[in-house]
Amino acid sequence: MNMSNKRISLFEPIIQSLIIFSCVYVGYTFTLTYDIIPKSIIRLPEVHVSTNDLWKLSIIFTTVFLLFLIPKQLISGRGVFFKPKRFASEYLVYLCAYTTASMYVFLATTINYDPQLIAAIGLFSTIIYFLFFIIWYAKKETEKSKFGGLYLVPFEVIKSLVSVKGVLVLIYFIFPLLLGKAFTSDRDIANLITQVRIWFNPIGNTAWGLNTLYPGIEFSQPILVKQAPGDSENLYVLERDGKIIKLQYPNSEKKELILDASSLLGEVEAENGALGFDFHPEFNQRNSINSHFVYLYYTEKRGEEQVNKISRFDLSSNDINSRLETEIPLLSLNRNAEGFHNGGSVEFGPDGYLYIGLGEGVHPKGITSYSEVLRSGVIRIDVDLTNTDTSFLPEGSFDHGNRQDYLIPKDNPFVGNPDVMDEFWALGLRNPFRFTFDPKTTEIWLGDVGSAVWEEVNIIEKGKHYQFPFIEGRHPTGKEKPENLPAPEQGPIYAYEHSAYDRAVIGGVVYRGDKFPELYGKYIFADNYSAKIFLLDNSDKENIDVKLIAQGSQYAQRGISSVIQLENGDVLITLLGAASTPTGEILSLISSDDVTDSGSSDANDEDNHSQSEYLEYDKEITRQLYVVNCSRCHGSEGRGDGPDSDALGAELPDFTSHEFQSSRTDSDIYSVIEKGGAPLQMSPMMPPWGGFLKDAEIDHLTTYTRELGKIEATDQH
Ligand code: HEC
Repeated sequence: MNMSNKRISLFEPIIQSLIIFSCVYVGYTFTLTYDIIPKSIIRLPEVHVSTNDLWKLSIIFTTVFLLFLIPKQLISGRGVFFKPKRFASEYLVYLCAYTTASMYVFLATTINYDPQLIAAIGLFSTIIYFLFFIIWYAKKETEKSKFGGLYLVPFEVIKSLVSVKGVLVLIYFIFPLLLGKAFTSDRDIANLITQVRIWFNPIGNTAWGLNTLYPGIEFSQPILVKQAPGDSENLYVLERDGKIIKLQYPNSEKKELILDASSLLGEVEAENGALGFDFHPEFNQRNSINSHFVYLYYTEKRGEEQVNKISRFDLSSNDINSRLETEIPLLSLNRNAEGFHNGGSVEFGPDGYLYIGLGEGVHPKGITSYSEVLRSGVIRIDVDLTNTDTSFLPEGSFDHGNRQDYLIPKDNPFVGNPDVMDEFWALGLRNPFRFTFDPKTTEIWLGDVGSAVWEEVNIIEKGKHYQFPFIEGRHPTGKEKPENLPAPEQGPIYAYEHSAYDRAVIGGVVYRGDKFPELYGKYIFADNYSAKIFLLDNSDKENIDVKLIAQGSQYAQRGISSVIQLENGDVLITLLGAASTPTGEILSLISSDDVTDSGSSDANDEDNHSQSEYLEYDKEITRQLYVVNCSRCHGSEGRGDGPDSDALGAELPDFTSHEFQSSRTDSDIYSVIEKGGAPLQMSPMMPPWGGFLKDAEIDHLTTYTRELGKIEATDQH
């Protein structure tokens, strides 16, 4: 075999790659309506493939094909489309490339894997390959035997498939199918594959890492961390059960409790608890009457009642109990008690007014109008009560709660608009859990937690409507848009689609520190589920660039709860951790040059130290696990009526029903919790929890799902 005699053609592999590239789209369009693998053979789940995933798929397939076909071209020379023998041996290489690409997608990416689509890509590209050959061949054989040699093609293809090489290729080709089968039926193999998937999807070698501050100190669900104005030596951490803790920064021997509001909160579960706080801008200013005021947003849930409160506390007393007694609830908002979508941010703006993010859940059932209730937006109030030239006392009754001790700035955008309460600054947000002000431009950057598919980053402009509930991300939700919106619409500046792991945006900060010049002017934000930290660069407004820069521990809904920046340029992150054991952490973003082994946060460390704590089934702990992770879809009692259930486009089972309980084995339930709906021919909206929750936790949730069935039998309600 003398290579130098072979004429090679780059043209051929390029044509072939283009075929595979276009077949991703052809296959996608086809599978939107038709099934390649008939339902009668195997019922595959409907998998949602995003445009972004589609794009990635075509790039992966094209690249892998080029990697296989170019060397083949170099070895065998040109002739793919006009020499039957050459075509046949090329087809073996094609099969290898196809198999490699689909395995790569399955194992090494976070793309939602759709077997129908992968099959369609294979089928259509094969057909087009053969068509290409026929046309080309006919063109070449212009003279006498126009189609004379065509019969050779199937003959040669079969011949090469039954050769030793061919059999090896076929075994390789079948391997992923077997793997897929094993993945859905054998838990050990599924675990192994999940490990491989996680191994392939690490955070990568970015220039950034996370450092655990206070390694020796335990935090119980830290939800936000802040510094007080004018004090760079201390840090204040809000724990979800209502405690504000003071620590020296950056090193501290111990925690000092400065406010304990835990007795005010009632039950802390679902998304309830202490959500956000801020210091008065004149905090620490000796001659100001505001020098000890802190403002806290928390939920108070007792049984079927829930009130969300924004309260002021005065920390001037030395006695911590008397501090609690200074509470003045500025707002008490009655809501239905399911506990989700409260919003959470409480931030003083550069203008000295207090801005608060309120979720759509902050309303009694049935009330939808912005003229009646404060919910689903950002509000702005004047807590100083001093300047009645620029602010006025709210008028009129407030049926769904109570408001007191604040004024409304006259330049609020909806003042005088009968359709919107005067407090509002912006409308149409679903769950504005975290926002911050860009210290330089004073823009509000906000993470709006989405429902089933989209997460949004919004820049909040005065008087705009951010399109919830009729549009999420940039896509209509199917909910009807009200006829007369009280404000002009505004879409997000960035939206990302849920993957298996990215599911709940936590806002972040526009970085304005000196410490990391590369980050200057960019938005650092996080996702709560995946605990990933992203960097958003919008200097080119047309092409917003977002990249992953770091990742904290994965705790499912117990991941990142806030991202803040300090005056000195440090960026701090809170990791919520479990409710049952104090596994929360305060992390600091570092450039990886500074990463030390001892201090770096590593997901695996976490897994080890808490595994043993979960071995025993504890109904209460498991109930909390269920409430946090499952009830937003399945409902707090498992009836399939959680607040997100409408948005899933899937029927949810009723765990309390005899029908459900009697038709599933424990291992059925275990596998669906572990692997999610998709690989088990159920709705992909049921997320996989393996890898997030410990095996023992999944076991306990299985038991708990069973117990939900028993509740029905004993007390009928
Ligand atoms: C984002 C919404 C969502 C969340 C969160 C969620 N599920 Fe599901 N779950 C679904 C959907 C949708 C289905 C229905 C799948 C189908 O039948 O096609 C489902 C089905 C199930 C099933 C029944 C499967 C069967 O045999 O019919 C179990 C058990 C289950 N989920 C448990 C859980 C547990 C435990 C959690 C929390 C760790 C959880 N789910 C979290 C959406 C969700």
